[in-house]
This record gives sequence, structure tokens and C-alpha cells, in this order.
Amino acid sequence: PQVLYFTRHGESEFNAIGRIGGNSSLSARGQSYARVLAEHLSAVASRDLRVWTSELLRTKQTAAHIPAPKRAIRALNELDAGICEGMTYEEMQEQYPQEFAWRDQDKLRYRYPWGESYIDIMTRLRPVLSALEDEDNILVVGHQAVLRCMLGYFLDLKLDELPYMNVPLHTVVKLTARGYKYEVEMTKLPV
Ligand code: F6P
Repeated sequence: PQVLYFTRHGESEFNAIGRIGGNSSLSARGQSYARVLAEHLSAVASRDLRVWTSELLRTKQTAAHIPAPKRAIRALNELDAGICEGMTYEEMQEQYPQEFAWRDQDKLRYRYPWGESYIDIMTRLRPVLSALEDEDNILVVGHQAVLRCMLGYFLDLKLDELPYMNVPLHTVVKLTARGYKYEVEMTKLPV
């Protein structure tokens, strides 16, 4: 059966200090995940595994030790938080209280000024999602919001649930096709 793997990038320097977006490198913990991830895949994944990352440093660094062909795809980049890129949620609440409240009211449709909404991500992901449906043995190294959208799509979640889906760091999500549905297996790796 068709097998697809998904993971968030390892912890980044921005994750460690609660800042959103940006293009920071992996923290020491994140780098340790990159090594453990490569070991895990060499034990469990097929030899013809291929890796799709975003264009951001933290996904490329997470994939760095995996001996497989890699492709960086712009449509896999994280949610663009526009004027709030690089802020903490507290800073956003202080500097843009109205925006913060709007996002809280409708996280799915809320679009950051000069940025994106979850619906926008769904739109730009369409071609990648159709391509993935015809693929096998792909690992997607992505980001929190983008992976919520991708996993929500394969697992048939309601759109309104997407923005709240729990996709933890340092965890490999394996989808195995079973008829028209996918079986999910989550493996938290020790870092
Ligand atoms: O904090 C990491 C991050 O990937 C940010 O770059 C992004 O804005 C955020 O998560 C998306 O999560 P949420 O929609 O819950 O704010």
C-alpha cells in the first residue's frame, strides 16, 4: 500500500523562544532530532524514499542527514504571518489587539495583514496535495500550520478543526493507504 511520512522540522531557534514565522536555524535539540530522524528512517523506510521540504532553512536542516533525493517546494513554506512575523503571541496581543481578537474568533479564515490564512494555505497546497496522492514513499518535512492542512486533507478532518489539530514536534506521522482511507501511526522520537 501507499505510504507517506510527515514531520515538522526539528525545534528551531524561534520555536525555542516562542516567536512565529521567520527563517531561523534549528536549535541544538532540533539538530539532534535531524540526526535521530535520519536513523529512524534508515531503519523503517523503504530504500526509494524521497524527501520534500519547504524552502526554509529549518526544514532543509532537518532533512540534511537523510540519504535520499530532496526537493524544496515553496508551497510547503509556513503560514506567512505578515506584519506579525517574528513576534511572540504576547507581542501581537499588545501591538495588534484587534488582529489578535479577530484571529481568535475565526482562526481558519483570519488572514494576517500582508500575510495568509489557513484557507490561503489550503489553496496554495492543492497542487502539492494532488501530486502527493499519486506518490509513494515520500517524507514531507513541513511546518505546523502547513502540516495541519495536509494531514487534515488526508484524514478528512472538517475545515474548522484544522487550525487546532495537534501536530507535535519531533514526531513522525506515517500514513498508510487502506482503501480510500489512511491509517495513521505517530512515532515520537527521543531527542
Ligand atoms: O510557532 C510556529 C509556527 O509554525 C509559526 O511559524 C506559525 O505562525 C504558527 O506556528 C502557526 O500556528 P498557529 O496557527 O497555531 O498560530
